[in-house]
Amino acid sequence: MDIAIQQGQIGEFASPVLVIPGFDPDTPRDHEVDYASGGLINDLYKSGEFRGKVGDTAVLHRVPGFRAERLMLAGGGKRADFTPFEMRRLAGAAVRAAATRRIPTVQFWVPAEFAEPQWVQAVVEGALAGSWEPDVLKTDPRKHETRVTSFTVCVASSTAALEKVVADATVIGESQNFARDLVNLPANLLTPLELAARAKQMAQESGLTCEVLETEQMRELGMGALLGVAQGSENPPALIVIRYEPPRAVSDDHLALVGKGVTFDTGGYSIKPADGMEKMKYDMGGAAAVLGAMRAIARLKPDVRVTAYIPTVENMISGNAQRPGDIVTTMCGKTVEVLNTDAEGRLILADAMSYALKDGATHMVDAATLTGAIAVALGHLYFGAFTNNDALYDRVAAASKSAGERVWRLPMDEEYKDYLKSAFADLPNIGGRWGGSITAAKFLEEFAGEKPWVHLDIAGTAWLDDGKAWLAKGPTGTAVRTFIGLATGWSA
Ligand code: BES
Ligand code: MN
Ligand code: ZN
Repeated sequence: MDIAIQQGQIGEFASPVLVIPGFDPDTPRDHEVDYASGGLINDLYKSGEFRGKVGDTAVLHRVPGFRAERLMLAGGGKRADFTPFEMRRLAGAAVRAAATRRIPTVQFWVPAEFAEPQWVQAVVEGALAGSWEPDVLKTDPRKHETRVTSFTVCVASSTAALEKVVADATVIGESQNFARDLVNLPANLLTPLELAARAKQMAQESGLTCEVLETEQMRELGMGALLGVAQGSENPPALIVIRYEPPRAVSDDHLALVGKGVTFDTGGYSIKPADGMEKMKYDMGGAAAVLGAMRAIARLKPDVRVTAYIPTVENMISGNAQRPGDIVTTMCGKTVEVLNTDAEGRLILADAMSYALKDGATHMVDAATLTGAIAVALGHLYFGAFTNNDALYDRVAAASKSAGERVWRLPMDEEYKDYLKSAFADLPNIGGRWGGSITAAKFLEEFAGEKPWVHLDIAGTAWLDDGKAWLAKGPTGTAVRTFIGLATGWSA
């Protein structure tokens, strides 16, 4: 989708459809647009057809006073509660409604009160998120008729101050969709080495350096936990390392982004139920989030050094797969009793985190579809956050807030560590029945050393089971925008 910005008066924009935000309950009599339309919009509200709720849309043809062929009212909810978060959804819903109506060219009217960076950023990001569809592998050629290919932000004031905002938001939205494309690929097409190949290609196109560690190197490094998970699969594992060096660094800080890259999670011998197992192709959602963020970071050029560390494996069953009860030695030397082969994410992350520390990372943030328990705790709206450092958490929380992603912090009291007891090794890879997301995080904390670290459990937010007016069913690209905001907002 091509994105542009254009200056003009509301009635002057001549396009197939001009989108106009509308609220609930509006005061249509005072509505600038209603005024221009000679009361048509007021009538639309009165009819009850359009109530201005977030995601609502209604279309009017040939409205007097407008050169656009159609006006599309797009709901933003209650005006008093309207924030860039709702604006993203409004824009996404408008693009999707246009696509459904076979309208490929969309102009979006930004009223003067919203002609500011945070709102315009939300419009562009929301429009790009709404334009994405998970149907690349369908052969039906008609699908191409349903795409919006051109989206223009329309403002009455000068566009000068907003052009960079639009360009940056385009990078962010496209990077989020890049992550969604990766997650959307099924595991037969996206093996660990294929993920590494795509990471390399992205890095090359973005001017980043990328290095892929393969089995032999990982064996030399002593990554017994990662290799233990990988050994059941015919598809070899990898550790993807991508480096961004800032043109001018504000400090010696070295931010590590670590992403769980399990291209398919059968559970291993602690096998998952058949029902729903197909969704475990999204178990590399953390890896995709990190790759999407690196793609944007390369283009937005923040002032901090950022390195991505992505352990990628397939968790399978075979004559060589790891067994419950196996004891593995991690890169940092700690031994782990694998009580459940389905708790594999923390095993591969443990070794990746040790590698990041050895590589000089000063701050670490990981994203992982780590536990089903996080969806039990938070549903599908918030990702969970766990940390050993309040200051780094505050940076992540600030980034997620301005990115319009919801994060909720969970406790990490020392007492939870007592839930992780093994008679035979330093650590078991699972706790008991309770607090499953917390015990997973307590396990990871053992591999963060003394460095500030935040873990994001995105298992509940990385996949949308039912499409929304503003977002298609499938991968969401969760955490991409938070990671980007964390890097671009970094200050010494
Ligand atoms: N990849 C899963 C977590 C997951 C579950 C992601 C549902 C998305 C949706 C992870 O590897 C896993 O299997 N975790 C186990 C941990 C348990 C064995 C302690 C889980 O959540 O059941
Ligand atoms: Mn698992
Ligand atoms: Zn998993």
